[in-house]
Amino acid sequence: AFPTLVAIDGPAGSGKSSVSRAVARKLGFAYLDTGAAYRALAWAMQHRKVDTSDVDAVIAELADFDYSIGTDPDASAVTVGESDVTEAIREPAVSAAVSAVARIPEVRTHLTELFRSIARDVDRPGIVVEGRDITTIVAPEAEVRILLTASQEARMGRRSAELPTESADTVAEALRSRDRADSQVVDFMSAADGVTTVDSTHLDFEQTVDAVIEVINTRT
Ligand code: C5P
Repeated sequence: AFPTLVAIDGPAGSGKSSVSRAVARKLGFAYLDTGAAYRALAWAMQHRKVDTSDVDAVIAELADFDYSIGTDPDASAVTVGESDVTEAIREPAVSAAVSAVARIPEVRTHLTELFRSIARDVDRPGIVVEGRDITTIVAPEAEVRILLTASQEARMGRRSAELPTESADTVAEALRSRDRADSQVVDFMSAADGVTTVDSTHLDFEQTVDAVIEVINTRT
């Protein structure tokens, strides 16, 4: 049988990644952070000094994009070639460059195929796949589809806590501009037909994890 697919979308700072990882851990499922793949590609372009506004140059590099990501929720290291980029892809410079790479249709098609094959081949009873377009494009057929949201204020506060060395204003502005750029490509702010919204604005981490697991339990 195919693994149970849980698709979770949401904006930056919604708690998507940490919640999805915790849910996968609790259910014994695999976990795939698709944003990490877009980030790894942006990192690789910066590393190779490719101008990310040069669409043809980015597409030309795609064939050589040798990337891997662990799907064990307790060991999801990200590598590009020989480099472990797990930490580096979280740097603000990568966050600032990623949307330009992610809006190229060839990039999306390439990574979407990769995500589908990872999800198909997983050796666990299920997989939680998390990103911006999982419920709509990557896996619209998923048994469970969730949009994880939170108020802008809550999202800024959480992201700020993750980046203690940056000022709250800098973090807020970076998040706003990334949301603006990303939402021109995919709509991750409203739930598509059949997608269940979980609003974490007034929930703490454990409550959000429980709310997601409850949706999964009612759908499987
Ligand atoms: O989830 P995270 O914020 O780490 O994603 C980083 C970036 O990757 C997003 O800002 C977006 O540009 C891109 N992304 C995407 N589609 C996805 C996941 C991420 O375009 N499914």
